[in-house]
Amino acid sequence: MSQPFDVAALAAAYASKSPQDILKLAFEHFGDDLWISFSGAEDVVLVDMAWKLNKQVKVFSLDTGRLHPETYRFIEQVREQYGLPIELLSPDRDRLDAFVKEKGLFSFYRDGHGECCGIRKIEPLRRKLSTVRAWATGQRRDQSPGTRSQVPVLEIDGAFSTPERPLYKFNPLAQMTSEEVWGYIRMLELPYNSLHERGFISIGCEPCTRPVLPRQHEREGRWWWEESTQKECGLHAGNLITKV
Ligand code: ADX
Ligand code: SF4
Repeated sequence: MSQPFDVAALAAAYASKSPQDILKLAFEHFGDDLWISFSGAEDVVLVDMAWKLNKQVKVFSLDTGRLHPETYRFIEQVREQYGLPIELLSPDRDRLDAFVKEKGLFSFYRDGHGECCGIRKIEPLRRKLSTVRAWATGQRRDQSPGTRSQVPVLEIDGAFSTPERPLYKFNPLAQMTSEEVWGYIRMLELPYNSLHERGFISIGCEPCTRPVLPRQHEREGRWWWEESTQKECGLHAGNLITKV
């Protein structure tokens, strides 16, 4: 068990350090209580780096039930290649059944993605995070000028902490650019989601993700019918709260 630590001071001290140094810090403090959140896209870089530091690293993915077939195959490929028992988190069946019965399978095109993401992603994530002390995500600043330009390498999770229990959130890739991520994937010949070969950059659920055109920002392929400054599904809701 680790000592409590000063998040603000460490975030400043590690702001320019490598993702591996940030992961080392996370493992030193949280050991088995650190979980990697893997979306089945280019954040395979995070899984690779974490696995190289700790072969027992714990990884989960949110199985919304609406991922592309390619993403399911890719998650399985990563599971096999790294020998990691990736934990797949499913939505609550009763809530999901009631929601789909009332609103059908595509209500997000009519009234926004909040409700569906709430049931398929946020509730299972909240359940999981209530049992852990720290998690690490593949968020990067360059992924979304509107919501992620300030993402720190380490923070107290503004969305899933409780007054009694702070949850620590690491974003080891925060400073990496898309170019660097892809340089890493290609140089080390990591596996990748085959959707990337078809113009997809940012990958989420199938109905809410589309490929982008040359020079279009990757975030334009996500929830494209909605306002860009709100393009967070709630996983990283802290990004929508103004940081001081
Ligand atoms: S999202 O909030 O808009 O969907 P994005 O696709 O950019 O997020 O991914 C950023 C990070 O959020 C990923 O690197 C991963 O850590 C986490 N994440 C996103 N989707 C999932 C998912 N389905 N399962 C687990 N983690 C996820
Ligand atoms: Fe539902 Fe789309 Fe959110 Fe997936 S991204 S949980 S399909 S609204």
